[in-house]
This record gives sequence, structure tokens and C-alpha cells, in this order.
Amino acid sequence: MINPLRGMKDLTFEESQRFNFIVNTATTVAKRYGYNYIETPILEETALFKRSVGESSDIVGKEMYQFEDKGGNDVCMRPEGTAGIVRAFVSAKLDRQPMKQKFYYYGPMFRYERPQKGRLREFHQFGCESFGEASVYEDFTIITMIKQIFDALGIGFELLVNSLGCPTCMPTYRENLVAYLTNIKEELCSDCNRRIETNPIRVLDCKNETCQSLLTASPKLIENLCEECDSDFKKLTALLDKADISYTVDTNLVRGLDYYSKTAFEFVSSEIGSQSAIAGGGRYDRLVEFLDGKPTPAVGFAIGIERIMELVKMPETKREGIYMGAMTQEAVEALFPLAEQKRKESKVTVEYNSKGFKSHMKGADKANARYAVLIGEDELKEGTVWFKDLESKEEKSVLLGEFTFKMHLP
Ligand code: HAM
Repeated sequence: MINPLRGMKDLTFEESQRFNFIVNTATTVAKRYGYNYIETPILEETALFKRSVGESSDIVGKEMYQFEDKGGNDVCMRPEGTAGIVRAFVSAKLDRQPMKQKFYYYGPMFRYERPQKGRLREFHQFGCESFGEASVYEDFTIITMIKQIFDALGIGFELLVNSLGCPTCMPTYRENLVAYLTNIKEELCSDCNRRIETNPIRVLDCKNETCQSLLTASPKLIENLCEECDSDFKKLTALLDKADISYTVDTNLVRGLDYYSKTAFEFVSSEIGSQSAIAGGGRYDRLVEFLDGKPTPAVGFAIGIERIMELVKMPETKREGIYMGAMTQEAVEALFPLAEQKRKESKVTVEYNSKGFKSHMKGADKANARYAVLIGEDELKEGTVWFKDLESKEEKSVLLGEFTFKMHLP
């Protein structure tokens, strides 16, 4: 038997309903906030992710599904959505238009990580990217949008926020941090030692407990922001306070992707184990320029769909559509044109085998149908169908012509 690859999953039955419910709910909210659907290829040039997510990030350094295609091109299955959407934004020359552009997307992402609960090699994100708005009100609005999505799905969360500064304040902070880290170098783990050289900010979110205890006295970026970043961050937290959205300022929240500046945030859940991040995002004002576009401020987020799958409170499934069955083989034949007609307006399940009444009623229940429509010998003779509303329990015989053309079932 051939199984799916390690860290990859089929989405069947109940799970696919949850998946669709999440995507539909998030789509409804994103549309209310003015977002339009965008789809970009799963396969992109590897250079795209190296330049955007960053060569020193774990994603690019260790986790990419990267290979040479038959034409000798260095390509990669997207590990995240933002880079491709920025590339599409620049490819379509949208960076030259004065309009603000907002996109939502969902689809599979690929990271060659060690699989565990909540961590897959193929997983799905729902994300939004907003281009052209530098105001911190947009960062706040994006956070309220995620809150609306999680509220609509019945998911509780904790919100962590931080500021990652900008080219004015980050370089000085990085120097101070490197000086601090170099002093304690011997006590830090090997990963952190490597990161001091390649990406010192990432040392801050090392999961090693010894490293974390040594970092409590490290310089904090939040206390060393330039005037603009400081004022934006204070405005963001003031807006969150005013909207009664509780949050924690996490000075070690650096995110695993290199393109962020200013606002960075993560939504976490305490109910799903160690892989607790259910959404993450922030501002990336320089990425469009990095990918050869005109400088364009941008902010966005992505939700990990699999991580929230079991947290979602699904609405009760209602009886829906029509179950059609016949008691004789001749009547089975009569069902098909009827079913075809009704399928123009409703979901229809047809039983191909002639069966007894009780057996059909069981079938209607199994199909969770709202209406049962049965044809037997008598009905066939009289040109009628027997019909029952399985919710109100009302039942009657209806002339075939009337049933086909005049009755409006949901
Ligand atoms: P990210 O934090 O790398 O951000 O991923 C977003 C979410 O995807 C995570 O919070 C998590 O729920 C889910 N996720 C990540 N890796 C896995 C995995 N291996 N298995 C299951 N779920 C996973 C980004 O990808 C950014 N592009 C978000 C963004 C959009 N920032 C700005 N715009």
C-alpha cells in the first residue's frame, strides 16, 4: 500500500468540512475588510525565498523543498505565501499604481521540518497582505481582522506583540546585542554561536533554556527604538487597549522570517501543545523594494489552518437537500429526470436500488436530507411522488408535474 509522505496528510470527510468552514469564514471576514483573492504558483525560483525570507533563516537554510527542474532551473516549493505575493505584486507592476492593494490567499506551504503534532511538511495557510499603507492603524486593523476570524470560529487565543525596529534603530541595537552576546558566547548553545555571526536577533528566540536564562539581561530593542518606531508601537498598543484586545509585549518575539520591520505579532493557543502559534505576521516595509519593486509599505499575516482545525467550533450540521428513492425498478427509471431537474436548485441524493419504505427512510436519515421523495407502484400509476419534510414531519402526495416545476424546496 502506498501511504502519503511523512509530514503530509490527506484531508478527508470530517476534516475537509472543518477546512472549508475555516477558509469560508476567514474569506467572509477578509472580504469585509476589502481584500481580494490572489493565487500565485506553488513553485517559484529559489532566489525569491533566499532574498525575502533570508539566507540565514531556518526556513531557507534547512527546510526548503528545493530541486533542479528538468530545464536545470533552481526551484522551490513555497515555504510561505508572502514572498510569492510580493513577487506577483511587482510582476504585475502594481507597485507603480497609487492605489492601495489588499489580497487574501489560502493554500499549501512546504517546509522540510521534523514532523510532530501541529508541525507538518505540507500544511495550509490562510493569509492576507496589505500593500501601500504605512499607517500603524493598518497594523491594528489587521490584528482586529484576525480576532474577528478567530471569534467567528470560536477559538480562544493569546496575542503577543513586539516591534522589530527599522533601518534607523535596528543597526545600533544589533551592534549592542552582538557585544552582549559575544561576552556570554561560551555559555550559549552552538546554534546561538552560529547566529551571532549570521543573524544575532534570532538568538533571542532560541528554545534552549540555558540560553533563555542568559538572555534576560540582554538589551531590549523595544527600549532602543527610534522616535518613529517608538511612537508607532505606543500607538498600536494604545489602540489595542482602547479596543479591549488583550496582548503581551514579548521582547523576544523576532519571527522566523527576515523581512519584518516595526510591528511583529503572533497569536498563540494554549490548547494545542508545543506548536502553539496559530497565526503570525507583521510589517514588511522593505520587501517590495528588496524584490525590485518601488518602495511600498506592507503588512500581513497568515493563519496555520491545521493548527486551528481541532479548535474550531463547528456549527450544527442541518438537514439539507433531497433524498430520492424508488420501490420498484420501473420507478427507479422515473427518478432520474426528476433528480436532474431538482439538482438545478438543490442537493439531491439518489438511491439506485429499489428498496422498501423503511430502508429508504433510513437512507434519507443517513444522507442527512431535509426531504425524502419516494416513488412506488401507486405513485407511478397516478403520476405523483410521495414527499416528506423530515424536519416538520409534514408529508403529502404531489403531482409529478407540480413537484418538478412548481415546488420550491431549499
Ligand atoms: P509563519 O509564522 O512562518 O509566517 O507561519 C504562519 C503560521 O503557519 C504559523 O503561525 C503556524 O500556525 C503555521 N505553520 C508554520 N509552519 C507550520 C508547519 N510546519 N506545520 C503546520 N503549520 C505551520 C509566515 O509564513 C508569514 N508568511 C506570515 C505573514 C504574512 N507575514 C506577513 N504576511
